[in-house]
Amino acid sequence: MREGTSAVEALQRELAESASGLSLGGGLPDETLFPRGALGRAFVAALHRPAGEALQYAWPEGQERLRAFVANRLRARGADVGPEDVIITNGAQQGLAIASQILCRAGSRVGVDPETYPAALALFRARRVLPVREEGGGAGRLAAWYKMPAMGNPRGREMDPAERARLLADRTPIIEDDAYADVRFDRRPAPRPLLADAPDRVFHVGTLSKTLCPGLRVGWLVPPARQRQRALRLKHSADLQSNSLAQAIVEEYLSRADYDAHLARIRRHYARKAGALMEAVARHLPQVRVEPPGGGFALWLQSEEALDERELLEIAVRQEGVSFDPGSEFRADGAGRPLALRLCFSALPVETFDDGVRRLARAWRKARARRVGVRVRQAGRAAARVSPVRAH
Ligand SMILES: Cc1ncc(COP(=O)(O)O)c(C=O)c1O
Repeated sequence: MREGTSAVEALQRELAESASGLSLGGGLPDETLFPRGALGRAFVAALHRPAGEALQYAWPEGQERLRAFVANRLRARGADVGPEDVIITNGAQQGLAIASQILCRAGSRVGVDPETYPAALALFRARRVLPVREEGGGAGRLAAWYKMPAMGNPRGREMDPAERARLLADRTPIIEDDAYADVRFDRRPAPRPLLADAPDRVFHVGTLSKTLCPGLRVGWLVPPARQRQRALRLKHSADLQSNSLAQAIVEEYLSRADYDAHLARIRRHYARKAGALMEAVARHLPQVRVEPPGGGFALWLQSEEALDERELLEIAVRQEGVSFDPGSEFRADGAGRPLALRLCFSALPVETFDDGVRRLARAWRKARARRVGVRVRQAGRAAARVSPVRAH
């Protein structure tokens, strides 16, 4: 999503306004994959539903057929879920907000991965909940874990079995963010969710934002059964219900479309783009470490170089017309070291990758030169202090 602290966001907005700017940040899906024609037909069909259903108020849990769709897909992955367990939310973000409202108080600690989804960190901080970097398991004083077991953002990795086992052995509640579960590059289906193994303490959150389109804001929350009424009250107090029209459009779309074929297509598409961006990075930024992702929208670049990420971003945006997501945005402690960058292959056309990474490499060289200049000036001042030369 479009995400970030205000200084970074200001730079990214500046870039978005320039016609020649290339944004390798942001984590937006590829707009060429939005099934516009099919959604248009679904929109018309939704408007013609009897009793003006798509334009009318509805219950806070959301529409039945959509909840059944979510439950069926989770059942296929091993979770014992029925439509009555699902709450349709305004995107996954609202599911995360409701889950954290139930599980955490001001001052609570939530265990997160070393790099995690920035808008979840922002959500916790806004509630005065402290996100802390913890590896899975054995942390009794946490109010909850926030994890992306199926496919992580930003690294594009599935959780390893040892961490999964540690999390399941622990009794701490888990907010399971499944947003990227269906954007994986191998041919395997999305893995068994943690919800399947610990339904009494997993708040499972999903979305159609990554696979269909984010603009409709259709996501879901499957809370533990004993928390369902509380989750529904929170949902109702926030916005009464999720958008009826968006839900009806998605229901109509799903009733006509071959959604699995759509998923297979987008997975191939993003896998190709990931490979192309990897190649551009290898050509122009050989100094960075990057692992091929198993899914998701982005590459995670790391370097031992002592560059200041904000300085690099400023040079990249203002002088070279390219942006990226700085690594500190993804860390619970906001640290900018070791230097890391998230580069998204999802939204931009492949033909722009070479130019985009070349611009970033130029910005990198300028940031490095500026650092060297600063060090030389500092060394000069230190030498002047150590051996003051008096003019006679
Ligand atoms: C890991 C993760 N979770 C949740 C979300 C929010 O998704 P939604 O658009 O459904 O609110 C995002 C969006 O970027 C995400 O990357």
